[in-house]
Amino acid sequence: MTAIPLGVPRRLVEFTLDGQEARVPEGSTVLDACRAAGKDVPTLCQGDTLTPKNACRVCVVEVEGSRTLVPACSRRAEPGMEVRTDTERARHSRKVVLELLASSVDLSTTPGAAEWIRDYGAEPDRFGPGAARLDEVPRVDNDLYVRDYDKCILCYKCVDACGEQWQNSFAISVVGRGFDARIAVERDAPLTDSACVYCGNCVEVCPTGALSFKSEFDMRAAGTWDESAQTETTTVCAYCGVGCNLTLHVQDNEIVKVTSPHDNPVTHGNLCIKGRFGYQHVQNRG
Ligand code: SF4
Ligand code: SF4
Ligand code: FES
Repeated sequence: MTAIPLGVPRRLVEFTLDGQEARVPEGSTVLDACRAAGKDVPTLCQGDTLTPKNACRVCVVEVEGSRTLVPACSRRAEPGMEVRTDTERARHSRKVVLELLASSVDLSTTPGAAEWIRDYGAEPDRFGPGAARLDEVPRVDNDLYVRDYDKCILCYKCVDACGEQWQNSFAISVVGRGFDARIAVERDAPLTDSACVYCGNCVEVCPTGALSFKSEFDMRAAGTWDESAQTETTTVCAYCGVGCNLTLHVQDNEIVKVTSPHDNPVTHGNLCIKGRFGYQHVQNRG
């Protein structure tokens, strides 16, 4: 008989979501409730394996009695709350946030961004062409992953994944202050001169493609990257006894990148360098 861990039972919290009764387990966020109810609230800096950073504010909703809009990704559902997700005020705020982000960074590889910009009627160009753009060239200083900070929204998810929340390497941090704040490794060095151990856990959580697999970066540059032509197969890493789950992304019979399921209770989407990047021998068919 297989034992299935059920976890500690949690009380249900009852509140109102867009006029409908909602019930979620205690500790759930408003965003959890929205997703369970099938409501499309946009998110960028929210990560399902990380504590909320509240950095982007595209997920804001109205809560009765709250003077300010509330980030759905970090606000816990409370009994009796009255939440409205689709008011004019919330929609207007999301629209302006999308305009500010899309006018200052390149969101072309951010999943969902183009649809949200269209759905919210956001006009990133209204601040003038290239307003506040970093216009940085991608940093290609190793064979495994690329840093393209022109796409970075400063959500700090990579800092958390590299630091105390997962990898404990602390290779990535923020340098500079205010408008000059940037994600970097120590002394803004090449990755190869840093404390990076190439686990790629930062790439796994980056919401914009600012951090990407070298394989994906090269294929995008060559115009051959095609997610619609890719299959995903989840298997077990054979390198060591930990037994991490690997999801192989395959295009034209070649592995183009490796991710890991976030709902795995042991690894939570994290891998080491071997599982994440060491797949070339599989393709050596000579
Ligand atoms: S590189 Fe990616 S994960 Fe890191 S702060 Fe920028 S957008 Fe966020
Ligand atoms: S990803 Fe790394 S830690 Fe996990 S099973 Fe593979 S070699 Fe072991
Ligand atoms: S997704 Fe909620 S603040 Fe960014």
